[in-house]
Amino acid sequence: MLRVLFVGDVYGKPGRRVLASHLPTIKSRFHFIIVNGENAAGGFGLNRESFGEITRAGADCVTLGNHAWHHKEVFGLLDDPRLVRPLNFPIGTPGSGYQTFDVKGEGSVTERLTVVNALGRVFMDATHNPFLAMDELLSKPNLGAVFLDFHAEATSEKAAMGQYLAGRVAAVIGTHTHVATADTRILKGGTAFQTDAGFTGPADSVIGADPAGPLTRFTTEMHSRFTVKEGDAELNGVIVHIEAGRAVHVERYHFQEGQEGA
Ligand SMILES: [Fe+2]
Ligand SMILES: [Fe+2]
Repeated sequence: MLRVLFVGDVYGKPGRRVLASHLPTIKSRFHFIIVNGENAAGGFGLNRESFGEITRAGADCVTLGNHAWHHKEVFGLLDDPRLVRPLNFPIGTPGSGYQTFDVKGEGSVTERLTVVNALGRVFMDATHNPFLAMDELLSKPNLGAVFLDFHAEATSEKAAMGQYLAGRVAAVIGTHTHVATADTRILKGGTAFQTDAGFTGPADSVIGADPAGPLTRFTTEMHSRFTVKEGDAELNGVIVHIEAGRAVHVERYHFQEGQEGA
């Protein structure tokens, strides 16, 4: 049995700070930790420093999203077997859309886990069909339990992916909206599902940004620069227990700075 923690989009310095302070305190409860790092460097993308901070905090695998290529430094990290970029990019794109790990689980029994990152297409930039990309991936042998971070905007597309992969993968957990949803469940056939894990970044923000920027944009329709909101940060994730390639337990995880013991 594998106890896996998935942590939603780490956003800027506040996200990296709460991850670095909190993850080490809970790391021993899990056999494997996946962290989405697509907003780690200043709110957009991943650079060498933020990748180092996330892995030092305890992440065994880091996934990306639509901001994957924002920092050029990420291209120098793509050979790292812990980093997963979206699967449904064109053939020839550097890096890998999935990584397979042999993980020491309960009773030190080694279990195989494949982590996948895929991008949705509804209200997002054009990519290849993520449903068909998953079919192609799942035709490969020796993947073990498959854990999909489905980085997508529309709840409908994420729900559809959950139903499409139900009974075929261990988990379909959504990211990208930065807001945790309350639909945590195990779908038919043993697939853990949650539309969105929520994010790891500044609380009281507009999905990570200081409200001033988005509010200027919404009220005047003029362009305004978005900056990372300062202050207390929250960490949102999903815990999945996997046995023989299928989920046997799923629950949301939430921690917020300044509310310790509250
Ligand atoms: Fe995103
Ligand atoms: Fe994000």
